[in-house]
Amino acid sequence: MFEADAFRIHQRAGEAFRAGLESVHYAAPAAGEVLIEVHYSGVNYKDALAGANAAPILRTSPLTGGIDLAGVVAESAAPGVAAGTEVLVNGAGLGETRDGGYAPYAVVPADIVVPVTPPLDLRGAMIIGTAGFTAALALERMQTNGQRPEHGPVAVTGACGGVGGFAVHLLSRLGYEAVASTRNPDAAQDYLKKLGAARVIGAVQMPAGALGAAQWGGAIDNLGGETAAALLATTKPWGNVVSIGLAQSAQLPATVMPCIVRGVSLLGVTSANCPMPWKRRIWTRLATDLLPQCLDDILADTITLNDLPAAFQQTLAGKTRGRLLVRCR
Ligand SMILES: NC(=O)c1ccc[n+]([C@@H]2O[C@H](COP(=O)([O-])OP(=O)(O)OC[C@H]3O[C@@H](n4cnc5c(N)ncnc54)[C@H](OP(=O)(O)O)[C@@H]3O)[C@@H](O)[C@H]2O)c1
Repeated sequence: MFEADAFRIHQRAGEAFRAGLESVHYAAPAAGEVLIEVHYSGVNYKDALAGANAAPILRTSPLTGGIDLAGVVAESAAPGVAAGTEVLVNGAGLGETRDGGYAPYAVVPADIVVPVTPPLDLRGAMIIGTAGFTAALALERMQTNGQRPEHGPVAVTGACGGVGGFAVHLLSRLGYEAVASTRNPDAAQDYLKKLGAARVIGAVQMPAGALGAAQWGGAIDNLGGETAAALLATTKPWGNVVSIGLAQSAQLPATVMPCIVRGVSLLGVTSANCPMPWKRRIWTRLATDLLPQCLDDILADTITLNDLPAAFQQTLAGKTRGRLLVRCR
């Protein structure tokens, strides 16, 4: 048994919200668990929602925040995961139903850890984090549903965010024409082109009718709301629109016309509930054919657990460009 400071979130209906560093007791891992020395986590939009009390993310309270982590197994009570192994965990209830990555230690079931394999290291794995993982998952879903580069340009909304930046980069790596949509295209030209954007545009506009001029081979949408509806209405026949996020709105003010007239598919992704075999496959791809070449470009800053409250406000205000990496020890 030992103690260490973790970033704890108290978020229970009817009780005062609070979040900050608190001392936590850690016990040795029980059968089937591992104790991880956490080196890095990240700031994802969902982390900001939870840590700033902007949405009811926690299903149990209090919890250590952080929906992903990377570190080294310090002690193992599970066959198949040896002490000394470099691992990551993303989703799987971290920061929602079980203690997450904003701490120097985490005790988790061994069956939710993913090995970190070279050339990826712990730092790189958490610059990618849930954001890059979700972008890769979205891309794989599109490919599985028949998306090919020759179908035309793929729009990425919220391109300056973590998911958006990785989506732009991975699409371009695989030969797609990635078109980055952002609220401030002039200011973000150089950054997004460095990540691989063929073009940088402003907000995607809603067409006048249920269908607009078909211009996108497909789309990866981080915003929801009218933006998601506009992408559906302007995607070419048999294209795929992947819905990832709701940074603009959780509503979808759309008609079924794109689906039934153009055969457009609306695909969903959920990193939190991704089956482990898929998760392992995606992380293997992120260390091989999808290995990002943009980690230092997309890294906005490296912060500590003390910096989290300010980072949450910055993220919710849409002012973070790229990824915030959190050093946990
Ligand atoms: N389905 C899943 O499993 C999953 C996994 C990860 C993330 N997500 C969701 O995906 C979204 C993006 O996540 P993230 O981690 O990339 O977040 P992020 O880094 O904070 O980026 C969000 C981006 O959205 C744009 N944006 C923010 N507020 C906006 C507004 N009010 N109107 C229009 N655009 C706005 C900004 O891009 P510009 O500056 O370029 O305009 C911002 O950089 C979030 O909604 C998150 O909850 C879902």
